[in-house]
Amino acid sequence: MYRIAPSLLSADFARLGEEVRNVIAAGADWIHFDVMDNHYVPNLTIGPLVCEAIRPHTTAPIDVHLMVKPVDRIIPDFAKAGANVITFHPEASDHIHRTLALIRDHGCKAGLVFNPATTLHYLDHALDNIDMVLLMSVNPGFGGQKFIPGTLAKLRATRERLDAYEAATGRHIQLQIDGGVKVDNIAEIAAAGADTFVAGSAVFGAGQDSDPNRYDSVIAALRAELAKVGQ
Ligand code: DX5
Ligand code: ZN
Repeated sequence: MYRIAPSLLSADFARLGEEVRNVIAAGADWIHFDVMDNHYVPNLTIGPLVCEAIRPHTTAPIDVHLMVKPVDRIIPDFAKAGANVITFHPEASDHIHRTLALIRDHGCKAGLVFNPATTLHYLDHALDNIDMVLLMSVNPGFGGQKFIPGTLAKLRATRERLDAYEAATGRHIQLQIDGGVKVDNIAEIAAAGADTFVAGSAVFGAGQDSDPNRYDSVIAALRAELAKVGQ
């Protein structure tokens, strides 16, 4: 089934715990947690201390997207801080297989993230060690960018590959999309094969008129679009 993962990048950082509670109460499935280091990407966000601080505010999975280089040193800290899923960019690790194993050894699900122009060849020898593939549909670093249309073809190619893998092994690998996901394009993104949807500005920018801290309408609108695609 489909999962909606609001990105805290567009939340009010002065009230993160409340934002987490509100967005989950509105029907979101996961919390997407964007970690940027002003080195791998030109922006600086939040780390394990903030992950630990929001952990008591929800039982929903916290999905940590590492946009940092190097990656290995910080992984145990996020696992201890309560992360459930940890993804990283293959270009940021010198030893991809080792990093994937490190994440799983710490009890988290592991995923690889592909920038818009990063080749899917990194999957060739890694599928057995991966629980989720994340395709970036914008260049990482900032919220509020426009969805890059070429990502749809890349999604279809990835879907085919993951379906073939599942048919051969019986193991399901999730396919997540991140960047520029909105109510008006989530259906075509789902039709192209994504099952897990990060949405930052679309969710946190859409507080309701009656209560700017409620996100029920936008989550319902995203789900209604997904229902049109079915599965
Ligand atoms: C970008 C981040 C995304 C971002 C998505 O580097 O990985 O998670 O917050 O934001 P929107 O949904 O606004 O494109
Ligand atoms: Zn992200």
